[in-house]
Amino acid sequence: MKKFLYPLVLMLAVGLVSTTTDEQRTATGDRVVATMKMNGDEVVLELPEVLDNYSDVDIPDHYSFYEEFASPSNPGASEITDAGATLGRVLFYDRNLSQNRTVSCGSCHQQSKGFADPVQFSEGFDGVKGNRNALSIADIGFAFYPALFWDDREVDLEHMVLLPLLDGKEMGITLEEAVERVEESDYYPDLFAAAFGDSEVTSERMGSAMAQFIASFKVVNTELDRVILENDWTPELEAGRELFKSHCFSCHSTVVPEEGAIDFVPSLPFFNSLIGPHNTGLYLEYGEDQGVGNETGSPTDNGKFKTPSLKNVALTGPYMHDGSLETLEDVIDFYSDEVQPHPNSTFNSQPYYSPLDLPQPFVGFDLDDVEKANLLVFLESLTDEEFITDPKFSDPFRVVESGVGVNDAEANGLSVFPNPMSVATTVQSEDPQDKIYTIRIIDSAGKVVVDQLADASTYTIERGSLPSGIYLMKIWSDNGISSEKLIIE
Ligand code: HEC
Ligand code: HEC
Repeated sequence: MKKFLYPLVLMLAVGLVSTTTDEQRTATGDRVVATMKMNGDEVVLELPEVLDNYSDVDIPDHYSFYEEFASPSNPGASEITDAGATLGRVLFYDRNLSQNRTVSCGSCHQQSKGFADPVQFSEGFDGVKGNRNALSIADIGFAFYPALFWDDREVDLEHMVLLPLLDGKEMGITLEEAVERVEESDYYPDLFAAAFGDSEVTSERMGSAMAQFIASFKVVNTELDRVILENDWTPELEAGRELFKSHCFSCHSTVVPEEGAIDFVPSLPFFNSLIGPHNTGLYLEYGEDQGVGNETGSPTDNGKFKTPSLKNVALTGPYMHDGSLETLEDVIDFYSDEVQPHPNSTFNSQPYYSPLDLPQPFVGFDLDDVEKANLLVFLESLTDEEFITDPKFSDPFRVVESGVGVNDAEANGLSVFPNPMSVATTVQSEDPQDKIYTIRIIDSAGKVVVDQLADASTYTIERGSLPSGIYLMKIWSDNGISSEKLIIE
């Protein structure tokens, strides 16, 4: 792995570090604690002078019952300290923790999208996509059952948060490499010392810090929260709330108050019986991804997936485990008219639904247009503008100069020849240790015309039937993402 320390950047970095004083603040009131080169970009790390508050946040009274009923192994119950969560924030956004230093947790869990990813399948460090939609990771600290991932396969948040680092499609490093990279960065010793008393770096401490940061994502200032506090209901929102209560909230643990009081606690034991993963009848045949069924091997678990939090749901699309439903309107149409009578569908197999006199087999709640619109108003009221813009959850690494023009192939230690291409073009790493993972060719209309996986230091792309013209070649390699203009003769 090469580091790109250009003399100019080095001078600039030294200059900045030596002139940074406590008085020197950025426009946001934060202080520059480090300057670095990250995959061709010139980046500064900015943190607040006084620690942000993660540990002692105001939670409206209408959530107080969560503390009482939340699962004892709920990760949110683990101790959150301001210094611990601050360290977690830096780790969460640090692109150095992926193999070629191109993606961080924050690449796929974006604050402005409620910590979900706006694309159906996220691209990992090497441009390769997974087969599940990145779900919102907010409100995990409020979850009633301690199960993580779409198939509920993990229960311990401190352990779980390390798994994306190891995932070959996500960040692709080992725990040893992660610890090494943290140790070699000059901004971590102080952060570890503040969080844990000394600067020793261990993967357990990394997991604990990231878990503290994530467990502090509490979405409690939504429009619905405001309406509850001010008792300011519109007829549409009230109608939407009633529909949500009768059709949705037995599974989705969203606070639903009635007349200022919470109608939630009394129904909890009942509610509890539906908590956990469910088969919603999204498909009659789920294909390869059977969710919990793949984990347990039990056919009765096929098609069961985690019931996600709906906080900020208007921002977290596309929806469902496979991101197959694009908009909330699509989701509502699904629950209204398109539910499939899968044998494991909770709507067919759960006794709770029989007393509700749902027609069996159940194919949807059959909502009319007004009901659909009101339900949409309710779902849209779950957006928390404060949460998605709160600086304490934002990316503390700021790109001060983007590497455009720097991270072309040559600067990233790659050669592309011949260019112009007539029949084929080879991409080669100067250092045979450095692998190429993915090569894409994009035409002038922005369409991906070649999407080629590789796993070698040299790879040749055939022209095939590509017409002459100017294209953009994008290459994912151990040295980051490179962009190169490719001319086809
Ligand atoms: C390449 C995209 C990508 C990156 C990078 C990534 N994630 Fe995820 N994350 C996902 C996807 C996709 C899922 C759902 C996977 C599944 O359920 O099998 C997920 C699931 C999760 C969950 C479970 C949420 C729940 O409610 O069950 C948590 C927590 C999480 N990620 C945290 C992290 C952390 C911490 C990092 C960085 C160390 C990270 N992610 C990096 C895509 C990503
Ligand atoms: C039987 C339990 C159950 C009921 C009832 C239920 N849901 Fe769901 N919901 C789920 C599960 C499980 C998923 C994930 C399914 C999947 O990905 O295959 C889900 C997914 C969703 C999603 C996608 C969230 C995301 O982040 O991708 C939305 C939105 C949603 N439901 C809204 C509703 C609405 C609105 C209702 C009422 C009309 C409702 N749900 C009723 C269990 C339920």
